Amino acid sequence: MSESTPSTESRSLQPSTGARIEIRGVRHSFGDVLVLDEFDLTVEPGEFLTLLGPSGSGKTTLLRIVGGLTIPDEGSVIVGGVDMTLLPARERGMGFVFQNYALFPHMTVQDNVAFPLQIRGISSDQIDRDVERALELVNLQGLGSRLPRELSGGQQQRVSLARALVFNPTVVLMDEPLGSLDKRLRQYLQNSIRLLQKEIGFTAVYVTHDQEEAFAMSDRIVVMHGGTVRQLGVPETVYRSPTEHFVADFVGDINEIEGVLRESGHGLIIEIAEGNTLVVPPYVSRSLGEGDRVLCGIRPEMVVIQEEPMGSPRLQATVELVSFHGNSYRILSRLRDGRRFIVESSSSLAAPAEGSTVWLHWDEEQTIVLIPPDGQP
Ligand SMILES: Nc1ncnc2c1ncn2[C@@H]1O[C@H](COP(=O)(O)OP(=O)(O)OP(=O)(O)O)[C@@H](O)[C@H]1O
Ligand SMILES: [Mg+2]
Repeated sequence: MSESTPSTESRSLQPSTGARIEIRGVRHSFGDVLVLDEFDLTVEPGEFLTLLGPSGSGKTTLLRIVGGLTIPDEGSVIVGGVDMTLLPARERGMGFVFQNYALFPHMTVQDNVAFPLQIRGISSDQIDRDVERALELVNLQGLGSRLPRELSGGQQQRVSLARALVFNPTVVLMDEPLGSLDKRLRQYLQNSIRLLQKEIGFTAVYVTHDQEEAFAMSDRIVVMHGGTVRQLGVPETVYRSPTEHFVADFVGDINEIEGVLRESGHGLIIEIAEGNTLVVPPYVSRSLGEGDRVLCGIRPEMVVIQEEPMGSPRLQATVELVSFHGNSYRILSRLRDGRRFIVESSSSLAAPAEGSTVWLHWDEEQTIVLIPPDGQP
């Protein structure tokens, strides 16, 4: 491992091969609260993987276990083929960017970033070169002599990032590193982190409860709930083909319509309101049959608003509220059965008038079909 064998060779921030992380059968409780249950996950070398889940779902606990800040009750953490389950954090050679893993307040930016190199016994000439390069990478050159309190929040976050990367770690762990920043700065730093990660090649495990941030940054996303993996996949798949109701609802707005399976001449179809029928997608459980209920989810941006009834499926609705969001309109409407239905349409199109009657049309292939959450075999 690089941290236990400090070298005086060139240690500039150069492409490094990220390490594979294997989390096997990890269980962890605090008191009698089970926080992680039989957790299995493999992060591929050089992958950017995000743990996404609501507050309390176990994201930080899992990240701390990978980083060696918490020892799990059961299971193992293998990094680059080495079982690190019991190894202390400082011997794992990982970079950390944690929201509460603050900069040393009395040390300059230069000294903060140099710290991981100093504890590794790197020569001072080399440290100067590496720190300069790390600050350049996060666009903070020239600010080395400032104290953390003389920097903005976003600049401090970038110093943390430089400190996490300066020693060429093969794994970088980030827990809500952009949590307290405004949207613009968040987006800027999301891009910086992703570009740096692609350039350097470390394996990244990133924690957020913001689904847009997870989508924007990740190769793959793990949706967590109650200490278990609910879905693991590339962002597009998690968004377009959620495997369960919790995931569908957590990763974005979704309109839900009840459907019933019916036997037609050509096999099963889904019957929904107003005489519409939908094809049964292949992923819907084969154990379902005639009369079984399903939940049909339609993302707001998949819907086209029409003034006249055209195409199928389509539902009649009354427009209740139109709000302008710059690049889109969000249209709150109400279906004939009284349910709310949200539509998001490009602001390059005319918005419907509030109070008007419209027809909502979508491509039936875009329907997300789920088994209802109240459980049906
Ligand atoms: N040191 C601790 N002692 C007792 N319980 C803890 C401790 N750390 C976490 N927990 C509990 O474990 C559960 C998971 O916490 P964790 O911090 O991993 O969640 P999280 O997904 O990171 O949430 P958030 O999005 O709010 O940061 C929560 O119920 C929390 O209260
Ligand atoms: Mg947390």
